[in-house]
Amino acid sequence: MHFTKNITDDLIWVGANDRRLAMFEGVYSVPTGVSYNSYLLMDEKTVLFDTVDKAVYHRFMENIAYALDGRALDYLIIQHMEPDHSAAFEDLLVRHPNVKIVCNAKTQTMIKQFFNLDLDALIVKEGDTLNTGRHKLHFVMAPMVHWPEVMVTYDSTDKILFSADGFGTFGALNGAIFADDVDFNKDYMNEARRYYTNIVGKYGTQVQALLKKASALEIEMICPLHGFVWRKNLSDFIDKYKHWSTYQPEESGVMIAYASVYGNTENAAEILSGKLRDKGIKTEMFDVSVTPASEIIAAAFKWSHLVFASTTYNAGIFITMEALINDLVAHNIQNRTVAIIENGSWAATSGGLMRKELEKCKNINILEKTVSLKSGLKPEQLPELEEIATALASDIPDTARVNAPDATSTTTGPPPPPAAVIDPAAMFKLSYGLFVLTAKDGGKDNGCIINTAIQITSTPLRLSIAVSKANYTHDMIIKTGEFNISILDTSVPFKTFQQFGFQSGRDTDKFAVVSYNNRTSNNIRYIPNSSNCVISAKTVDTYDYGTHTLFIADITESIVLSKEPSVTYQYYFDNIKPKPQQAAQTDADNEANEKKKGFVCKICGYVYEGDTLPADFICPLCKHPASDFEPL
Ligand code: FEO
Repeated sequence: MHFTKNITDDLIWVGANDRRLAMFEGVYSVPTGVSYNSYLLMDEKTVLFDTVDKAVYHRFMENIAYALDGRALDYLIIQHMEPDHSAAFEDLLVRHPNVKIVCNAKTQTMIKQFFNLDLDALIVKEGDTLNTGRHKLHFVMAPMVHWPEVMVTYDSTDKILFSADGFGTFGALNGAIFADDVDFNKDYMNEARRYYTNIVGKYGTQVQALLKKASALEIEMICPLHGFVWRKNLSDFIDKYKHWSTYQPEESGVMIAYASVYGNTENAAEILSGKLRDKGIKTEMFDVSVTPASEIIAAAFKWSHLVFASTTYNAGIFITMEALINDLVAHNIQNRTVAIIENGSWAATSGGLMRKELEKCKNINILEKTVSLKSGLKPEQLPELEEIATALASDIPDTARVNAPDATSTTTGPPPPPAAVIDPAAMFKLSYGLFVLTAKDGGKDNGCIINTAIQITSTPLRLSIAVSKANYTHDMIIKTGEFNISILDTSVPFKTFQQFGFQSGRDTDKFAVVSYNNRTSNNIRYIPNSSNCVISAKTVDTYDYGTHTLFIADITESIVLSKEPSVTYQYYFDNIKPKPQQAAQTDADNEANEKKKGFVCKICGYVYEGDTLPADFICPLCKHPASDFEPL
């Protein structure tokens, strides 16, 4: 009997669940099962997205027959050739001999490898589209998320991303189909993390490349090949992917993994955990001989600090710990602080060997101190454990500690603080600089004024900028991922702000009025006059904050241009920006302007005529809100 689920009016889930599978890919236990998703689009043409594993082949065929309801299958889009999605392919061809295969060139090669078939497929590449009637499908290559042939498909009609292995989850669906049908964070997030970290954790760079492409699309639904369909809170799950793919921890705390034959190494690990807990640090412990490595790898991606404690075995690292550490290195774990405990009754070697392996990872800070046990922990070694507990705790913020003081907690004692007020003027007291942000898209140069460029790390040398989505430069950076920041100095004239801040690059060439054409090695222009420095950067991540996008970028070039001090927001207000009356008068080259009733923008001098300024008014020139206007 078929079991299908409607995703939209014309999109049907025709996949199936497997709760008998012991080991996914022969290595990952799946105690809650796994789903193999396949989707059937019932447009003027019928389109199937991928097939399923051989274990659920019969239910899948029943589902397709039911959902097609007598119609022929016109297209099969193969996004991923791993057999958990392609095993039913050959039998599908027997039942639907006229189906047109849609795939990329790498997939065609793999079809030959797996099935020894030379098919007359419709070969697609990045950016190609397929019209199926009402729907328009766009093909986006996603190599190494998780195999080299992987591609994803974007339905621009209904704004659905068919994401292949991306955004998948271990666990059978149990009758639900949407992530918002279940308590995902409570019941499935651990399995989503375990799926991601073990299946594609190694390929963070490639996942980031896909996230970057996805960020340029308007996505309302994600349909992965495993786990739930996402139609709500997409940004929360995408944010998890950003953490995982950049190897940034999700939580501050310490994961302790230990390998102990007779309990003595475990004892030291437990005492360390107790000392950390005494300091309010969250800990999670794993016996690596008991817990599957896939769970510990997922936890290592979650926590900020890691401890590995292992007895010495056959003059090396204990077997299960050695396998775990090899696995972690293979999965590219990065950006963690690590402490090591070793044990050895006559020749302890495991500590040095673990250190050597972990040193292969990027940005891993391994504490110099290794606690070395001889058979078991001695009382005189407690200070050594205290030393590493203190070192680990020292860079975990107080706010991340258990029972940390919380502004919302109710206690007897001092009276409650006064109610919060927000005075927009306070924002001007922040010591912002002012910058011309420039970008290039094809033959088009553009730039705009921003005040939010901040260095965030020195290793790697990385900065962040926040850019209004209304700016054309924003769209260029979304597309190209590259930009320059010219740091304005105190010699900058007001006309630079007019040139770059008060008009749109969509309908103006902002550089038409200048005689210079200075460019950095990325071929993007910068402002040689009135700037004391130019910094070039390449985007590594983006965060959507409604009106603005926060770009995180690696610095690729920086040139000091002068010794003039940088202009600050305060300096701009005090010395560069014309005073409101002045601005209004400058703007008004006819006397009638003086009789206007209205409001003037304190930032750029734009005049709004009328008795009342709408609360949601945005300055058309400098994009500042109504709170930055004052009556004429
Ligand atoms: Fe679910 Fe990479 O296959």
